[in-house]
Amino acid sequence: MRLVLVGAPGAGKGTQAQFLAAHFGIPHISTGDIFRANLKGNTPLGLEAKKYMDKGELVPDSVTNDMVKDRLNQGDLENGFLLDGYPRNVAQAEVLRAVLAEKNTPLHAALELSVDSEEIVTRLSGRRSCPNCQRTFHVVNEKPAVEGICDACQTALVQRDDDKAEVIARRLEVYAEQTEPIISFYRNEGLLITISATGPVNEITDSAIAALSRVK
Ligand code: AP5
Repeated sequence: MRLVLVGAPGAGKGTQAQFLAAHFGIPHISTGDIFRANLKGNTPLGLEAKKYMDKGELVPDSVTNDMVKDRLNQGDLENGFLLDGYPRNVAQAEVLRAVLAEKNTPLHAALELSVDSEEIVTRLSGRRSCPNCQRTFHVVNEKPAVEGICDACQTALVQRDDDKAEVIARRLEVYAEQTEPIISFYRNEGLLITISATGPVNEITDSAIAALSRVK
Protein backbone atom coordinates (compact mmCIF):
# COMPACT_ATOMS: atom_id res chain seq x y z
CA MET A 1 0.00 0.00 0.00
CA ARG A 2 1.43 3.38 -1.07
CA LEU A 3 -0.52 6.01 0.76
CA VAL A 4 -0.46 9.69 1.62
CA LEU A 5 -2.38 11.09 4.60
CA VAL A 6 -3.90 14.53 4.07
CA GLY A 7 -5.51 16.73 6.71
CA ALA A 8 -5.21 19.95 8.66
CA PRO A 9 -2.69 20.32 11.47
CA GLY A 10 -4.10 18.32 14.38
CA ALA A 11 -6.51 16.26 12.26
CA GLY A 12 -4.91 13.13 13.72
CA LYS A 13 -2.54 12.17 10.91
CA GLY A 14 0.28 11.14 13.25
CA THR A 15 -2.14 9.33 15.58
CA GLN A 16 -3.75 7.32 12.77
CA ALA A 17 -0.47 6.81 10.90
CA GLN A 18 1.01 4.66 13.65
CA PHE A 19 -1.96 2.23 13.54
CA LEU A 20 -2.32 2.21 9.74
CA ALA A 21 1.41 1.67 9.21
CA ALA A 22 1.33 -1.27 11.64
CA HIS A 23 -1.81 -2.72 10.02
CA PHE A 24 -0.41 -2.58 6.48
CA GLY A 25 3.19 -3.41 7.50
CA ILE A 26 4.61 -0.27 5.91
CA PRO A 27 6.97 2.48 7.13
CA HIS A 28 5.42 5.69 8.48
CA ILE A 29 7.29 8.61 6.90
CA SER A 30 6.47 11.92 8.59
CA THR A 31 8.29 14.96 7.25
CA GLY A 32 7.52 16.83 10.50
CA ASP A 33 9.12 13.99 12.53
CA ILE A 34 12.18 13.97 10.26
CA PHE A 35 12.61 17.73 10.71
CA ARG A 36 12.15 17.43 14.49
CA ALA A 37 14.67 14.54 14.70
CA ASN A 38 17.18 16.68 12.78
CA LEU A 39 16.52 19.60 15.08
CA LYS A 40 17.11 17.39 18.12
CA GLY A 41 20.45 16.35 16.58
CA ASN A 42 21.32 20.00 15.76
CA THR A 43 21.95 19.13 12.11
CA PRO A 44 22.08 21.89 9.45
CA LEU A 45 18.77 20.54 8.05
CA GLY A 46 17.11 20.74 11.47
CA LEU A 47 18.37 24.27 12.15
CA GLU A 48 17.22 25.43 8.71
CA ALA A 49 13.76 23.84 9.17
CA LYS A 50 13.34 25.38 12.64
CA LYS A 51 13.35 28.89 11.13
CA TYR A 52 10.10 28.06 9.31
CA MET A 53 8.47 25.60 11.73
CA ASP A 54 8.61 28.03 14.66
CA LYS A 55 6.59 30.52 12.61
CA GLY A 56 4.11 27.96 11.29
CA GLU A 57 5.41 28.37 7.73
CA LEU A 58 6.30 25.59 5.30
CA VAL A 59 9.95 24.63 4.98
CA PRO A 60 11.02 25.51 1.39
CA ASP A 61 10.24 22.89 -1.26
CA SER A 62 13.90 22.75 -2.32
CA VAL A 63 14.82 21.37 1.12
CA THR A 64 11.74 19.18 1.66
CA ASN A 65 11.56 17.52 -1.75
CA ASP A 66 15.22 16.41 -1.65
CA MET A 67 14.75 15.02 1.85
CA VAL A 68 11.68 12.99 0.79
CA LYS A 69 13.38 11.75 -2.40
CA ASP A 70 16.29 10.46 -0.27
CA ARG A 71 13.87 8.70 2.07
CA LEU A 72 11.98 7.10 -0.83
CA ASN A 73 15.28 5.69 -2.10
CA GLN A 74 15.89 3.69 1.06
CA GLY A 75 15.47 -0.07 0.81
CA ASP A 76 12.56 -0.68 3.19
CA LEU A 77 9.65 0.26 0.93
CA GLU A 78 8.92 -3.05 -0.78
CA ASN A 79 5.46 -3.23 0.87
CA GLY A 80 4.82 0.48 0.30
CA PHE A 81 4.81 3.47 2.64
CA LEU A 82 2.58 5.91 4.45
CA LEU A 83 3.53 9.56 3.91
CA ASP A 84 2.31 11.92 6.65
CA GLY A 85 2.74 15.68 6.17
CA TYR A 86 3.96 15.38 2.60
CA PRO A 87 2.95 16.58 0.07
CA ARG A 88 1.87 19.89 1.54
CA ASN A 89 1.31 21.93 -1.61
CA VAL A 90 0.54 21.18 -5.24
CA ALA A 91 4.19 21.60 -6.31
CA GLN A 92 5.22 18.88 -3.83
CA ALA A 93 2.36 16.65 -5.03
CA GLU A 94 3.64 17.00 -8.59
CA VAL A 95 7.20 16.15 -7.52
CA LEU A 96 5.96 13.08 -5.65
CA ARG A 97 3.92 11.92 -8.66
CA ALA A 98 6.99 12.26 -10.91
CA VAL A 99 9.34 10.47 -8.46
CA LEU A 100 6.90 7.55 -8.08
CA ALA A 101 6.22 7.39 -11.84
CA GLU A 102 9.97 7.02 -12.43
CA LYS A 103 9.99 4.02 -10.09
CA ASN A 104 6.76 2.65 -11.60
CA THR A 105 5.21 2.66 -8.11
CA PRO A 106 2.27 5.10 -8.21
CA LEU A 107 0.18 5.94 -5.15
CA HIS A 108 -2.80 3.74 -4.30
CA ALA A 109 -4.67 6.42 -2.35
CA ALA A 110 -4.67 9.80 -0.64
CA LEU A 111 -6.62 9.49 2.61
CA GLU A 112 -8.08 12.77 3.86
CA LEU A 113 -8.89 13.04 7.59
CA SER A 114 -11.68 15.58 7.87
CA VAL A 115 -12.18 17.47 11.17
CA ASP A 116 -13.80 20.84 11.88
CA SER A 117 -11.57 23.77 12.83
CA GLU A 118 -12.80 24.23 16.45
CA GLU A 119 -11.94 20.63 17.25
CA ILE A 120 -8.51 21.12 15.66
CA VAL A 121 -7.59 24.01 17.95
CA THR A 122 -8.63 21.96 21.01
CA ARG A 123 -6.56 19.02 19.84
CA LEU A 124 -3.42 21.03 19.11
CA SER A 125 -3.47 23.13 22.25
CA GLY A 126 -3.83 19.98 24.43
CA ARG A 127 -1.34 17.84 22.54
CA ARG A 128 1.71 16.47 24.33
CA SER A 129 4.40 14.71 22.30
CA CYS A 130 7.15 12.26 23.08
CA PRO A 131 10.47 13.77 21.93
CA ASN A 132 11.99 10.28 21.83
CA CYS A 133 9.53 8.00 19.96
CA GLN A 134 7.24 10.78 18.55
CA ARG A 135 4.06 9.24 19.98
CA THR A 136 1.38 11.86 20.66
CA PHE A 137 -1.06 12.18 23.57
CA HIS A 138 -3.67 14.72 24.62
CA VAL A 139 -4.20 16.17 28.09
CA VAL A 140 -7.92 15.31 27.95
CA ASN A 141 -8.65 13.04 24.97
CA GLU A 142 -5.67 10.65 24.88
CA LYS A 143 -4.10 10.70 28.33
CA PRO A 144 -0.97 8.65 28.98
CA ALA A 145 -1.23 6.05 31.78
CA VAL A 146 1.10 8.19 33.95
CA GLU A 147 0.61 11.95 33.58
CA GLY A 148 3.39 13.57 31.53
CA ILE A 149 5.15 10.27 30.68
CA CYS A 150 5.13 8.42 27.33
CA ASP A 151 3.38 5.03 27.57
CA ALA A 152 5.68 3.55 24.93
CA CYS A 153 9.17 4.59 26.08
CA GLN A 154 8.70 6.33 29.47
CA THR A 155 10.21 9.61 28.26
CA ALA A 156 8.86 12.91 29.69
CA LEU A 157 6.29 14.40 27.30
CA VAL A 158 6.68 17.95 25.94
CA GLN A 159 4.52 20.56 24.22
CA ARG A 160 5.73 21.24 20.68
CA ASP A 161 6.98 24.81 20.13
CA ASP A 162 4.57 25.17 17.21
CA ASP A 163 1.56 24.18 19.36
CA LYS A 164 1.44 27.69 20.92
CA ALA A 165 -1.76 29.62 20.09
CA GLU A 166 -0.24 32.21 17.72
CA VAL A 167 1.67 29.58 15.73
CA ILE A 168 -1.40 27.31 15.54
CA ALA A 169 -3.34 30.18 13.93
CA ARG A 170 -0.66 30.66 11.25
CA ARG A 171 -0.39 26.89 10.60
CA LEU A 172 -4.15 26.77 9.95
CA GLU A 173 -3.89 29.71 7.52
CA VAL A 174 -0.99 28.06 5.70
CA TYR A 175 -3.00 24.85 5.50
CA ALA A 176 -5.99 26.65 3.93
CA GLU A 177 -3.86 28.64 1.48
CA GLN A 178 -1.24 26.11 0.43
CA THR A 179 -2.20 22.57 1.45
CA GLU A 180 -5.97 22.35 0.90
CA PRO A 181 -5.55 22.59 -2.90
CA ILE A 182 -3.93 19.14 -2.88
CA ILE A 183 -7.36 17.71 -2.00
CA SER A 184 -8.65 18.75 -5.44
CA PHE A 185 -5.39 17.55 -7.00
CA TYR A 186 -5.92 14.03 -5.61
CA ARG A 187 -9.64 14.10 -6.38
CA ASN A 188 -8.76 14.81 -10.01
CA GLU A 189 -6.23 11.96 -9.94
CA GLY A 190 -9.02 9.61 -8.74
CA LEU A 191 -7.05 8.86 -5.56
CA LEU A 192 -8.93 10.80 -2.88
CA ILE A 193 -10.71 9.00 -0.02
CA THR A 194 -12.23 11.25 2.65
CA ILE A 195 -13.28 9.98 6.07
CA SER A 196 -14.57 11.80 9.13
CA ALA A 197 -11.80 11.95 11.75
CA THR A 198 -14.01 12.98 14.67
CA GLY A 199 -14.80 10.43 17.40
CA PRO A 200 -12.84 7.67 19.12
CA VAL A 201 -9.38 7.03 17.65
CA ASN A 202 -9.97 3.27 17.20
CA GLU A 203 -13.23 3.86 15.29
CA ILE A 204 -11.44 6.25 12.91
CA THR A 205 -8.70 3.64 12.38
CA ASP A 206 -11.35 0.98 11.61
CA SER A 207 -13.09 3.26 9.14
CA ALA A 208 -9.77 4.11 7.44
CA ILE A 209 -8.83 0.43 7.13
CA ALA A 210 -12.28 -0.41 5.74
CA ALA A 211 -12.04 2.39 3.15
CA LEU A 212 -8.46 1.45 2.19
CA SER A 213 -9.26 -2.24 1.87
CA ARG A 214 -11.56 -1.34 -1.06
CA VAL A 215 -8.64 0.30 -2.91
CA LYS A 216 -7.24 -1.70 -5.81
P1 AP5 B 1 3.83 18.25 11.01
O1 AP5 B 1 4.59 17.62 12.09
O2 AP5 B 1 3.51 17.47 9.79
O3 AP5 B 1 2.54 18.93 11.64
P2 AP5 B 1 1.04 19.09 11.10
O4 AP5 B 1 0.68 18.71 9.74
O5 AP5 B 1 0.77 20.49 11.48
O6 AP5 B 1 0.32 18.02 11.83
P3 AP5 B 1 0.38 17.73 13.29
O7 AP5 B 1 1.54 16.84 13.62
O8 AP5 B 1 0.30 19.03 14.07
O9 AP5 B 1 -1.01 17.03 13.54
P4 AP5 B 1 -1.54 15.58 13.21
O10 AP5 B 1 -2.56 15.65 12.14
O11 AP5 B 1 -0.42 14.61 13.04
O12 AP5 B 1 -2.32 15.31 14.58
P5 AP5 B 1 -1.98 14.34 15.81
O13 AP5 B 1 -2.18 12.92 15.41
O14 AP5 B 1 -0.70 14.70 16.48
O15 AP5 B 1 4.59 19.58 10.47
C1 AP5 B 1 5.15 20.51 11.38
C2 AP5 B 1 5.88 21.58 10.59
O16 AP5 B 1 6.96 21.00 9.82
C3 AP5 B 1 5.04 22.34 9.54
O17 AP5 B 1 4.31 23.41 10.11
C4 AP5 B 1 6.14 22.82 8.56
O18 AP5 B 1 6.83 23.93 9.07
C5 AP5 B 1 7.10 21.63 8.57
N1 AP5 B 1 6.77 20.66 7.50
C6 AP5 B 1 6.38 19.37 7.67
N2 AP5 B 1 6.16 18.78 6.48
C7 AP5 B 1 6.42 19.72 5.53
C8 AP5 B 1 6.34 19.73 4.11
N3 AP5 B 1 5.94 18.64 3.41
N4 AP5 B 1 6.68 20.87 3.45
C9 AP5 B 1 7.09 21.96 4.12
N5 AP5 B 1 7.15 22.03 5.47
C10 AP5 B 1 6.82 20.92 6.17
O19 AP5 B 1 -3.20 14.74 16.77
C11 AP5 B 1 -3.27 16.02 17.36
C12 AP5 B 1 -3.80 15.90 18.82
O20 AP5 B 1 -5.15 15.42 18.78
C13 AP5 B 1 -3.03 14.91 19.70
O21 AP5 B 1 -2.95 15.43 20.98
C14 AP5 B 1 -3.88 13.64 19.66
O22 AP5 B 1 -3.72 12.87 20.84
C15 AP5 B 1 -5.28 14.21 19.53
N6 AP5 B 1 -6.19 13.34 18.79
C16 AP5 B 1 -5.89 12.61 17.67
N7 AP5 B 1 -6.98 11.95 17.23
C17 AP5 B 1 -8.01 12.30 18.06
C18 AP5 B 1 -9.40 11.95 18.12
N8 AP5 B 1 -9.95 11.12 17.23
N9 AP5 B 1 -10.15 12.52 19.08
C19 AP5 B 1 -9.60 13.37 19.99
N10 AP5 B 1 -8.28 13.72 20.00
C20 AP5 B 1 -7.50 13.20 19.04
